[in-house]
Amino acid sequence: MTEFVSIDATTLATTDAYRLLIGCVTPRPIAWITTVDAQGVVNAAPFSSFNYVAHSPPMLAVNIGSREGKLKDTAQNIVESGEFTVNAATESNMELMHQCSAEYPPGVSEVEALGIELLPGTKVRTPRIACSPIQMECRLEQVIKLGRGLNTLYIGEIVAFHLSTDIYDGRSVDSIKMRPVARMGGPYYAALGEIFNRPALAKPPQ
Ligand SMILES: Cc1cc2nc3c(=O)[nH]c(=O)nc-3n(C[C@H](O)[C@H](O)[C@H](O)COP(=O)(O)O)c2cc1C
Repeated sequence: MTEFVSIDATTLATTDAYRLLIGCVTPRPIAWITTVDAQGVVNAAPFSSFNYVAHSPPMLAVNIGSREGKLKDTAQNIVESGEFTVNAATESNMELMHQCSAEYPPGVSEVEALGIELLPGTKVRTPRIACSPIQMECRLEQVIKLGRGLNTLYIGEIVAFHLSTDIYDGRSVDSIKMRPVARMGGPYYAALGEIFNRPALAKPPQ
């Protein structure tokens, strides 16, 4: 029989809780987020504590942790500008996306440093990343501080989708063709493995 280790989560140290979470909640989609600061400098960084949380209207949420008591550049820019753009991470842009997680000082653009090509925003000022096949422009909807204050959830309403015709047929996104990458417990990423096709079940099987 399988043996289980049971852990009281209510008394866990923050670092232990983090280590467990990033191993337990996998694979996670990755939001490669672009933002703009007050001087117009474009910032880009990946976040995997991320998902869609509503569809009427469509909304995305990302949890950004603080760094040494200060907001990360992405969070600071989201709060100041009230907007952000989520670009999808794929096998072909993974290396560039990963490079963006290095700690560039505020005011230094990862985008310029790494030579990332941008496309202009349409409904927001924030530009999008050209080598990402899906770019979602968001207006900040809610900011929710969580727990002991280390984590903050930023919820944005998607105000524009930009979808590459390589993966969008005018109706649906071909998420298999897109070759998304996901975050496992660091330092691992994962690509798609076997794909299973099961029709949606409106009622329990009889
Ligand atoms: C794949 C990946 C996922 C990440 N997910 C998160 C996350 O969900 N929340 C977070 O605060 N940091 C996350 N990070 C760390 C940030 O990317 C990192 O702190 C980055 O330097 C923040 O950049 P900024 O200061 O320009 O916003 C992640 C890093 C990687 C590589």
